[in-house]
Amino acid sequence: MSEQQVPIRLRVNGIPHDVTVPARRLLSDALRQDLGLTGTHVGCEHGVCGACTVLLDGRPVRSCLLLAVTVDGRDVTTVEGLAAEDGTLHPVQQAFQDCHGLQCGFCTPGFLTTIAAFLEENPDPTEDDALEAISGNLCRCTGYQNIKASVLRAAELKRASSSDAPAAP
Ligand code: FES
Ligand code: FES
Repeated sequence: MSEQQVPIRLRVNGIPHDVTVPARRLLSDALRQDLGLTGTHVGCEHGVCGACTVLLDGRPVRSCLLLAVTVDGRDVTTVEGLAAEDGTLHPVQQAFQDCHGLQCGFCTPGFLTTIAAFLEENPDPTEDDALEAISGNLCRCTGYQNIKASVLRAAELKRASSSDAPAAP
């Protein structure tokens, strides 16, 4: 018997997408295969490595642990959605560039989304906070020191850009 196909609507990086997916399609596979957003990486497929982390209504989730049909109607942000429309890097992306926070880059999309969400909650992290924020993501290359430095640098950049922003009327 063929698998049931389910029509769903996902809003991804601000753009609505209507797709019909097999009932058991993982969100990570729907993003990569159905929407062509291959920035979301799949490492372990068991919720361990964090490479597949995306933001669901602003909160980090493992997209390899969610069925696409369960997020029907929700807002998803992938790594492709972090930079501004004019191409300006998100502070976390800029910080990774500044601090050499990546080597092979496989784990990077998951770190970027995780840290972006973390800084919304804690804009002024200590070193320990930064370490804890990244402790659920695995990187095989960098030894974490540069990633931790990137968290602190991103916080600095984000604070600077919000203090530059014009005051609300
Ligand atoms: S691929 Fe999802 S946590 Fe590793
Ligand atoms: S930069 Fe290679 S796995 Fe993290």
